[in-house]
Amino acid sequence: MLLISLFLLGGLLTQTTAVDQTKFKKCNQAAFCKRHRDDKTRNGYSLDPNSIQVNETTIEAHLTSVENKLQLNVVGLKDSSFRIIVNEFDGFRLRFQPVVALDGKPIQEKLSNIKTKDEKTLIAVNGDVTISIFHSPFKLDILKKNELAISVNSDNLLKYESFRSKVEGKDDGEGFWEEEFGGHKDSKPYGSSSIGIDINFHGFDHLYGLPEHADGLVLKDTKNTDPYRLYNLDVFEYELASKMALYGSVPYVVAHSKSNSMSILWLNAAETWIDIDNDHKNTIKTHFISESGLIDIFVFLGPTPNDLHRQYSSVTGKYPLPPQFAIAYHQCRWNYKDESDVAKVSAGFDEHDIPMDVMWLDIEHTDNKKYFTWDKYNFAKPLQMIADLAVKGRKLVNIVDPHIKKDTGYYVFNEAEANGYFVKNVNGEGSYQGYCWPGDSMYPDFVNPEVRKWWKALFGFDKYLLSNNDTMIWNDMNEPSVFNGPEITMPKDIKHHGGFEHRDIHNVYGLLHHSSSYQGIIDRSGGKYRPFVLTRSFFAGSQRSAAVWTGDNTAEWGHLKESIPMLLSLSISGIPHVGADVGGFFKDVEDQLFIRWYQMGAFSPFFRAHAHIDCQRREPWLFKSATKLAIRKAIRQRYFFLSYWYTLFYEHTISGKPVMRPVWSEFPNDTDTFDDESQFMLGNALLVHPVVDAGHFDVNAYLPGDNEIWYEFDGDMSQESGSIIYLDAPIDHIPILQKGGTIIPVRARIRRSSKLMQKDPITLYIASNLDGTHANGTIYLDDGETYDYKDGKFFYGAFEYKRVNSKLYTIASKSLDQKGIYQGEVTVENIMIRGVQYTPSSIMLDESISLVYEYNPSKQTLTIKKPDCDITHSFTISIIV
Ligand SMILES: *[C@@H]1O[C@H](CO)[C@@H](O)[C@H](O)[C@H]1NC(C)=O
Ligand SMILES: *[C@@H]1O[C@H](CO)[C@@H](O)[C@H](O)[C@H]1NC(C)=O
Ligand SMILES: *[C@@H]1O[C@H](CO)[C@@H](O)[C@H](O)[C@H]1NC(C)=O
Ligand SMILES: *[C@@H]1O[C@H](CO)[C@@H](O)[C@H](O)[C@H]1NC(C)=O
Repeated sequence: MLLISLFLLGGLLTQTTAVDQTKFKKCNQAAFCKRHRDDKTRNGYSLDPNSIQVNETTIEAHLTSVENKLQLNVVGLKDSSFRIIVNEFDGFRLRFQPVVALDGKPIQEKLSNIKTKDEKTLIAVNGDVTISIFHSPFKLDILKKNELAISVNSDNLLKYESFRSKVEGKDDGEGFWEEEFGGHKDSKPYGSSSIGIDINFHGFDHLYGLPEHADGLVLKDTKNTDPYRLYNLDVFEYELASKMALYGSVPYVVAHSKSNSMSILWLNAAETWIDIDNDHKNTIKTHFISESGLIDIFVFLGPTPNDLHRQYSSVTGKYPLPPQFAIAYHQCRWNYKDESDVAKVSAGFDEHDIPMDVMWLDIEHTDNKKYFTWDKYNFAKPLQMIADLAVKGRKLVNIVDPHIKKDTGYYVFNEAEANGYFVKNVNGEGSYQGYCWPGDSMYPDFVNPEVRKWWKALFGFDKYLLSNNDTMIWNDMNEPSVFNGPEITMPKDIKHHGGFEHRDIHNVYGLLHHSSSYQGIIDRSGGKYRPFVLTRSFFAGSQRSAAVWTGDNTAEWGHLKESIPMLLSLSISGIPHVGADVGGFFKDVEDQLFIRWYQMGAFSPFFRAHAHIDCQRREPWLFKSATKLAIRKAIRQRYFFLSYWYTLFYEHTISGKPVMRPVWSEFPNDTDTFDDESQFMLGNALLVHPVVDAGHFDVNAYLPGDNEIWYEFDGDMSQESGSIIYLDAPIDHIPILQKGGTIIPVRARIRRSSKLMQKDPITLYIASNLDGTHANGTIYLDDGETYDYKDGKFFYGAFEYKRVNSKLYTIASKSLDQKGIYQGEVTVENIMIRGVQYTPSSIMLDESISLVYEYNPSKQTLTIKKPDCDITHSFTISIIV
């Protein structure tokens, strides 16, 4: 042990990675943040009762202070949600609203019982929720069952800096008209237009959300640190336990208590800072500060986490059903050098009997970083290479970044430049030029709908030569990353379509990029195949078109551990297809860490190994045999559970529930789970407790819930909820438990890729509930790649195991959606039941065929062999006692 630790320490000392803090702003280096945060004296706003106008869904009124006049709108939305918008009255300039985050126009619903008395206006939203708007000073309270739950502006922090023309000699405060950072000047021709307000949560001790930060799942008090920052940035070697901004932003906060869950979306795409004050027992105060845009707050009233998943996803959208390969295993590195390298790696997986669905190519596969092209020497015959992968059911993912090489021999550059499609300079003229992988580069202005249309068409087979329907897309560097720009991104004062400055739209640049790519992939096949797009930068609503990974992490134990809260935070913020680079991007990885990371990856929604170009090669068979075998086992486990994963992704499209869930999301009133970020739920059935510490070979898992029973998935142990259970976790093992009362479909035969397992039979794992009388579960099946499921070519069904009486138990299947018809000929191969407290005397299929079984009284397990019934036809298996 000592030797190992010394070795590890040595490794750390010689290869330390660290972020360069000086490259990125602190709140006190951003003039607007400093003004809102440090100086809390306000003139205060009052609502003018004479200005109130009301119709069925909206109440409108004016707020005035000595500084300016604002317009307040409160809008009722369907499903226990509403929206509060504060805009400038008669603004000098249009403010940017990132409506691209929304899944269409939010559906309005009636606000009822609007009553104005002298000092306040009352609105009833639904049964037990009341909004009360106090006129002077202005504040808005949300009461649930007559108890205060959320208050807006109760600390009077509303501050709205108006666009204006500069008056010479007037002091508007430091940094109001221009500021500088790292040698970059930011001009502000209309002055600062920043906004801020306090939003306080009453009756809560836990807040979650605000991805992306390399910090815990529970949001922490920020009195002695910087606020949480949301400003999409390419942070080289990011550090842990930090509120620094990272690659993406979802300005969404979930408040949760034993009896209540509520959330808010702060719909603003500018640089945003959020202070959190969690000192007050049972009240958490937040202060939202954005550099420009509107105050536009969506409030979701819950009352449970599952209600929030539904309410939030109905406003920002769901992740569409991915093609099946997208949720299998992906093999990536920067870079697979040439076609023979790709062929050898693909063959290596077969040789070592490790399944793999997707090979990836990073920037070097292109002709000098000109995306949509191929390096003519190393990738001379890409269609042959892709076809060779396709024979094994495999796909290829190519990188397509937004920076476009400035090169008059490059058709993408020429088309964009000729049409004025690039983001413009500060004066609104000429294309803005930055520096990135290809050298001098220009950046398409995706804010312009015409540019998005052009970008989509670049994926057409007539334009992206030598690509085909098996080529999918990876959008990296889309914060956007600009190597020579302020904070490694674009200057804030350069110009976009519609006269907006970059500062207004910054946090949606990535979303506009990856959603255009996604549409391009749909269009190129005439809408036949489901696309797969991975993005690094994201915003609320990114889930409608992309999977997200946590960017350039490091091969250190801390980064593996941090990946759990980072993925959970994204998951509860509406983005379900998420993962971290398996193995860690920077630095070489040692065997034990690599194995543990594969185990975590196998249970993360997006499962991809990736490594920096300077890292040693990492294909599993390059490690010693025991390491390879442990990795092989983890990857095969992913394929074993793939049918369950696929079903969860389908169910997300209906319910908005994430696939990977914090334990409290499934057990909302179990307070012991509220701070838990060492384990998580996969759907409602599996509790996963990865090992994320060096030298640990066991875990203590907390079994959540009330009157539940949990079964060790790969063992014989079972235990009631509310306790902590000790589980062995030898190096090739990840502890997983199945909740009693659930049924999981798995595929026990593992092949080279998920496509080749498509018609394989299913095994059902049934875990009886605590009293041994019931369990149920679901399965979703379709062709795994086309949109034919939208025309009814699918099967969505339920299995139910139940005690009929002391002499009879049954297992029955039925369709849950009669619109679906699927001819997959998938059968049930075996059924494994746990918690069987009776001895069967015979087992019959559909009352006619006698089935072979094996009962183990000491383990209380019953295995029913080869019923071989077609899953898509209803069947009943009778267990006669
Ligand atoms: C109510 O007024 C708002 C604007 O004040 C408008 O957007 C909305 O469509 C109106 N709704 C109805 C039902 O008239
Ligand atoms: C892609 O799929 C579509 C729809 O099946 C088909 O029409 C088209 O020929 C395919 N394109 C290529 C390049 O394989
Ligand atoms: C939690 O909720 C469940 C289901 O509503 C209930 O049966 C149980 O008693 C509650 N537990 C606690 C500790 O409040
Ligand atoms: C499974 O059983 C639970 C508990 O009885 C029930 O709430 C749920 O709706 C059932 N699910 C299906 C798909 O039938």
